[in-house]
Amino acid sequence: MEESVKLFYLGRDESGADILYKNRDLTTHALIIGMTGSGKTGLGIGLIEEAALDNIPSIIIDPKGDMGNLLLAFPSCSKEEFLPWIDSQEAANKNQSVEEAAKETAQNWKKGLSDWGEGKERVEALKNSARFTIYTPAASFGVGVNILSSFNVPPQEILNDSDTLNMLISSSATSILSLVGINADPLSSKEHILISSILTHFYKNNKNAGLEEIISSIVTPPFDKVGIFSLETFFPKERRMDFAMRLNAIIASPSFSSWLEGDDMDIDGFLLDKDKKPKVSIFNISHLSDNERMFFVTLLLNNLISWMRSKEGSSSLRALIYMDEIFGFFPPNVNPPSKLPMLTLLKQARAFGLGVVLSTQNPVDLDYKGLSNIGTWFIGRLQTAQDRERVISGLSGVQGSNLDKQSLVNLLSSLKKRHFLLKNINEEGLRVFQTRWTLSYLKGPLSREQIRLLNQTPAPAPEPSQEFLNTNQAVSRKFISTIPQYYFYKQSKPNYHLSPYLVCTAKVRFVNKNIDEENSAQASALILVNKPVSWQAEEYISQESFEKSARDKSSFDDIASFVDEPKKINAFKKDAVDFIMRTQKLTLFSIPWLKIESKPKESKEEFNIRLEAALEKAYEQKYEKLKEKYDKIQRSLDDKFSKLRLKLEKEKSEAQNKTMDTLATIGTSILGALFTKSRVGAISKTASSVKNASRALKERGDVQRVEQEIALVEREAKETESEFQTQIKKLKEEFSLTNALVEEIVITPRKTDIYDEKIFILWREA
Ligand SMILES: Nc1ncnc2c1ncn2[C@@H]1O[C@H](COP(=O)(O)OP(=O)(O)OP(=O)(O)O)[C@@H](O)[C@H]1O
Ligand SMILES: [Mg+2]
Repeated sequence: MEESVKLFYLGRDESGADILYKNRDLTTHALIIGMTGSGKTGLGIGLIEEAALDNIPSIIIDPKGDMGNLLLAFPSCSKEEFLPWIDSQEAANKNQSVEEAAKETAQNWKKGLSDWGEGKERVEALKNSARFTIYTPAASFGVGVNILSSFNVPPQEILNDSDTLNMLISSSATSILSLVGINADPLSSKEHILISSILTHFYKNNKNAGLEEIISSIVTPPFDKVGIFSLETFFPKERRMDFAMRLNAIIASPSFSSWLEGDDMDIDGFLLDKDKKPKVSIFNISHLSDNERMFFVTLLLNNLISWMRSKEGSSSLRALIYMDEIFGFFPPNVNPPSKLPMLTLLKQARAFGLGVVLSTQNPVDLDYKGLSNIGTWFIGRLQTAQDRERVISGLSGVQGSNLDKQSLVNLLSSLKKRHFLLKNINEEGLRVFQTRWTLSYLKGPLSREQIRLLNQTPAPAPEPSQEFLNTNQAVSRKFISTIPQYYFYKQSKPNYHLSPYLVCTAKVRFVNKNIDEENSAQASALILVNKPVSWQAEEYISQESFEKSARDKSSFDDIASFVDEPKKINAFKKDAVDFIMRTQKLTLFSIPWLKIESKPKESKEEFNIRLEAALEKAYEQKYEKLKEKYDKIQRSLDDKFSKLRLKLEKEKSEAQNKTMDTLATIGTSILGALFTKSRVGAISKTASSVKNASRALKERGDVQRVEQEIALVEREAKETESEFQTQIKKLKEEFSLTNALVEEIVITPRKTDIYDEKIFILWREA
């Protein structure tokens, strides 16, 4: 087959003709559908290989953990190349040794490739075409991803496009909330509206938003109105504080720091390496929880959208975005945070030369708005009639196809593994083809250890603990004389298959000014022929519990020959001790101001119980003090109040007497004035009574004043009481377990703190 820059070699149709797919057609995106085992991942890997061969980079989201197989390209198809990737258990199941299985697999692959017209050069070319990296967000066995810059201001093009901007802000907010397990409705959730408003504010001011800034803005937002409501009415400070605390608890946890280690969340950096070589960046998310997967996929898609919009348009295929197994990320009817960015990507990516390829077992896993944006359909074998119906209703009426519905049904139910029906809107008709053999070895999901190994390409100087041994020979278990051997059986079955481990145990002492603690530590490493030796920490098991000889019906993996060389064993022992020193640590928890510290063997839970009691005691002391203070204020207010009451009574009665007297005088004097001739005298008499009356009014004024004073005292008392309640609440919060700032004290051993080292071989079941 001739290599063409513009065409992807995907397989052959029934007549044996090559299926050559114009790579540009991928800019209208593709969907791969088929039941489990139908060959979807094989087809996806084929597409990515073709893209890499054409210098087109790919970003791959890998929920299952098998896309890393792209790093398993072995040009010579030799037994040695396959050997480290053969599962010993699988070999045993087929009654083969690992060596035999490796030989068979290598031959198989060689034949597969040659049957499909693919030679050594093509595998070689693939290996050299791109830099393949397995990213493992929030974990260190692959390359980590630092998400710190994920909420940076989007490019001007997006700031000018309010629809996309709103989408971006909304999905960022939802993804942040998914971290705390809040399943927010963007329209009604206060938390969602608040975070969206904060992000909007940052972006309007051209400021990058980090998670920490977002959290502190929740407590004191840079605005005081949300819509028409005042911030306090909309989301009172106290409740904002609770919410901020919840988020803070997540990002302050030690495990969250793993989200900040590794390569930056930078799409350019995922597509091209420093030498401008295309990259195939595989984001393995199989180790993350559902919430974390959602969080990461949303961030990645949002960043892709921002990246894409900052680029100029392109009509040729610039990069591939591939997602293996989309179930749960873009469903119809519900709106997880990842859905909107994916729909946006499907709508807009075409203009920028981004091809999106999605893979799923069932067409209903993708929202219909997404389906309508897809130009190429690869339909493999489908399990149920219902699934077939669903797909066919989308296909019938395809121009240039002379297949009626019934023939489509028949066709889909008879499709074999690796056979797909291809519908491409850029071409007429439908074609059925079988996918070509993949250049990469489809081993299936990779273990953490294997990913760690793969990411070390191109092979750096080996670290002492990961030394790659080129010992091709095995040594017989029976003749090893340098080192004791033990056996460990998990269960009783008729047959056992055992793998050899080098195990090193040692005593470790942890010392600081309060503590002197001795622990037993254990590290082990699988030692197979031609495999790297890599130490793992594990729980210490006393040698007493191992068996001294092998049970009947045990079969054994080949053990590397170095175990019979005392010098090498010594070197490995040193290496293991070094590993133990680096990895052993004793973590204590402490709250200095409470003078409480965890004990060496105490679990965090046990410590928390003690801590809670100490907090309660401290709280009670503070509470007593607080209560004393407020009791004092209350007493003086009570005092004031009773004095004022007395005064009021007095003023009231005085005012009453005066009024009565005066009214009587006024009455008589006015009457008198009417009946006496001397009006002057009467009037002056009246005048003096009026004077008395105004004094009486003054007395009444005094009453009012005292009443006002009483009201003031009453109000003060009420306020004091509510202040007291608030203080108690604050105090309770301050002394709650969730808010206690627990410090971690990490004690590591020095070289001299490790002693009593023992090294032996342990044969155990996988
Ligand atoms: N193109 C191919 N070349 C060689 N082997 C293949 C190819 N495609 C599939 N296979 C073989 O078939 C097996 C199953 O195929 P694959 O993993 O692609 O199925 P799938 O549809 O992705 O299944 P699932 O839904 O369970 O992920 C592979 O492990 C591999 O052994
Ligand atoms: Mg698959």
